[in-house]
Order: sequence, then structure tokens, then C-alpha cells
Amino acid sequence: MSKSLTILGATGSVGRQALDLVARNPGRWQVEALTANSDAQGLADAARACGAKFAVVGDPSAYDALKTALAGSGIEAAAGAEAICEAARRPGDIVLTAIVGAAGLAPTLAAVERGATLAIANKETLVCAGPVVSAAAKASGATLLPVDSEHNAVFQVFDHARPDRVSRIILTASGGPFRTMARADMARVTVADACKHPIWSMGAKISVDSATLMNKGLELIEAHHLFPVGIERLDVIVHPQSVVHSMVEYVDGSVLAQLGTPDMRIPLAYAMAWPERIATPAARLDLASIAKLEFEAPDFERFPCLQLAWDALRADGSAPCILNAANEIAVAAFISGQVSFLDIDAIVAATLARVASGPVGSLNEVVEIDGIARAEARAQVLKRA
Ligand SMILES: NC(=O)c1ccc[n+]([C@@H]2O[C@H](COP(=O)([O-])OP(=O)(O)OC[C@H]3O[C@@H](n4cnc5c(N)ncnc54)[C@H](OP(=O)(O)O)[C@@H]3O)[C@@H](O)[C@H]2O)c1
Repeated sequence: MSKSLTILGATGSVGRQALDLVARNPGRWQVEALTANSDAQGLADAARACGAKFAVVGDPSAYDALKTALAGSGIEAAAGAEAICEAARRPGDIVLTAIVGAAGLAPTLAAVERGATLAIANKETLVCAGPVVSAAAKASGATLLPVDSEHNAVFQVFDHARPDRVSRIILTASGGPFRTMARADMARVTVADACKHPIWSMGAKISVDSATLMNKGLELIEAHHLFPVGIERLDVIVHPQSVVHSMVEYVDGSVLAQLGTPDMRIPLAYAMAWPERIATPAARLDLASIAKLEFEAPDFERFPCLQLAWDALRADGSAPCILNAANEIAVAAFISGQVSFLDIDAIVAATLARVASGPVGSLNEVVEIDGIARAEARAQVLKRA
């Protein structure tokens, strides 16, 4: 039976792979709405191709281009942050949240509040507002399905009926492009170097996060909100081949893992078709040709972002929101050439040290602390630019 689907962030790396699955499975999903930020032409092309009813750009200055690109299609066009929330609120069985950054927060909450099934790729939303999103999901009965390959792996092997039997969640990390690089040499790396991920092809922000290992830190916080296990039962291990997407250890010592080739269409298909399992075009895993799977402990000294994320998770309250906001500003400043790669962790650390953390119980509180942290992080960027 056909289900209706809305994709927030349809023009990005995750959004485009989801649309590839839609195109390969005619009749399985009916696309209700697609959103982007400013890529009006990419959004219009995608909306026409999948027969979406509603297309929204977040940036109001892209509205005219979207209208022109959709002329004659019968597809409704809109612009602005509130229109993205409207897309999330429209009746639709599944909402895929593939916006990058905390910009995904309000539309994610809009979908959660109406009790939708969410396929969540937008990890920053859970990091900065996990308790708010979890409480809203509890109240509305919304279902949260992880798309991040690590959390999707955990979800697949997790004993949801008996979480007390889980002794550890072990997230795997590829280690990123600088896994073996001395910290001093990281001072000279370029944006292109940082975005050259050894395994995955992803958007720029998450690629830089993978290079600093902040991505794994954000994922630790994400795991804390998605699975009912204590912080002390979360762990990270570096696994350069990215074949084992994550593991769950049980009280008897058994470890269950999900393995596969690094293709986001596997976790996307799992979340979008859940509780069914559908075919994907992903390459099959050929362990004999891979031959060797390696594992190593993460290096917190060369990659301080992972330690900062651990500390923020333990501090709780708004610390993860401050961490995330500072990281978004620092990564954007690195990508635009204002600061160096090693400034990223310094900016995040300085922001965490200067912005007081407190409890966060509502969207307004999250938005307020996010704004304060961004202002402090911008000041830190200016000091280093
Ligand atoms: N890429 C992966 O393989 C992967 C894997 C796991 C998790 N994730 C997570 O999935 C999310 C998306 O990652 P991605 O790599 O697909 O990012 P991406 O390629 O940069 O795409 C981001 C999408 O969000 C839209 N967007 C950006 N800023 C926005 C704003 N302020 N308001 C509304 N929409 C906005 C973009 O629209 P425009 O195109 O118009 O800018 C685009 O559609 C991130 O949270 C990431 O951590 C990604």
C-alpha cells in the first residue's frame, strides 16, 4: 500500500538518495512535499520528477526562481522557515528530516507534534533539543526511526522490548580523512582535504564533522536520545573500513552488529519502508575481498571534538545545544576560509567555557540558548579570522 512521504532537505546528499529510492519503487511512496533552502532549480526538478504536491524553499529570495521553475506543473510553491514547518505539518505518513543543522529543529518538531513517523537524518536537532523532541514524541505518539547509518544499525539489532539486557551500544567511526595524521599537520589541511572522506560521500558540513570526529560526538548524543540506555553504556570505536555500522553488546557477552557496504540507501530504505524490508541497489558486501576488518580506540588528544561532545553529554542540560551551535558556526567559518581546521575545536571549547549551561525544557529555551551560543562562537571566529 502506498504511503505519503515528505522530504525536508530534498536537494541534499541524503534527500537525493531518498528520492532515488522513490524513483526505483513506483507506487510505494506518494510524495506530499519537498523542501530545500535556496536550490530552487534542484528542488523544482526533483518535485516534477517525483510528482510532489508542494515545494518549499527556506530562503525567501529563492521564491521567484522556484515559482518560475515550477510554472505549468500544478505544484504549489512556498518560501520561508514557516512554510517548511507547514510542509512538515501536512498530512503525510512519513517525514524524512534531511535538513542540515539546527535549522531542522522547528520543522522536525512540527512533524513530531502531529504524531508522524519520522525518518531522522538531521542529527543536530536531537543533539540540541533531544529532551524537547522526545517529550513531544511521547505526547503525540510519533515514531522516531534513525537514518544515520550507525543508529540505524543499532536500531536493527537492539532488543526494544528488553533494553535492560543491553550492556553497551558501540558506535563505529571511520576515523575520517585525518585518522593517521599528526595534529600539527592538521593546521595546514584545506576544506577539500577535510571533505575527502575515505568511505562516504556526504554534504560538506557532515564531512568536516567526520574529519574532526565531532560527527561521532554528535552521534553519541543522538544515541542517548534514541535508545533507552545510560550514558555509561555508550562507547565509540574506530573502524576504518566502515563495514560494521555499529554494535550492541548484551549482558551475556553476545555482540550483535549490522554490516553492509557504505551506501546510505540501505538505512534510508530501512527507515522509509519500516517495518518492511525492501530491495536496494546497494552493492553487496564481499567480505572475502575486503579480507580485513580493523578496529582501534579513538584518539581524544588529536580529536578533541569527541572529548568536548562527551563532556557536553555528561553535563547535560543545554551543553549539547551550545556544543552544536558553536560547531555549526566554526565549521561554516572553516568552509568559508575564515578560520583553520584546528580553530574548530578551539572555538567550540571557548564557547562552551563562556556560555553558561542550564536546563532546556521548551523550544523557546533551545532557540534562546542556541542564539547566545552562536553569538559567542561568532565572536570567537572574529578573534581568529
Ligand atoms: N550525507 C550523509 O551521508 C549523511 C549520513 C548520515 C546523517 N546525515 C545527516 O543528514 C543531514 C543532511 O546531511 P546532508 O549531507 O544530506 O546535507 P547537505 O547535502 O548539505 O543537504 C542539506 C539539505 O538541507 C537544506 N538546508 C540547508 N540549510 C537549510 C536551512 N537553513 N533551512 C532549510 N533547509 C536547509 C539544503 O538545501 P539547499 O540544497 O537549498 O542548500 C539541503 O536540501 C545532516 O544532519 C547530516 O548530519 C547525513
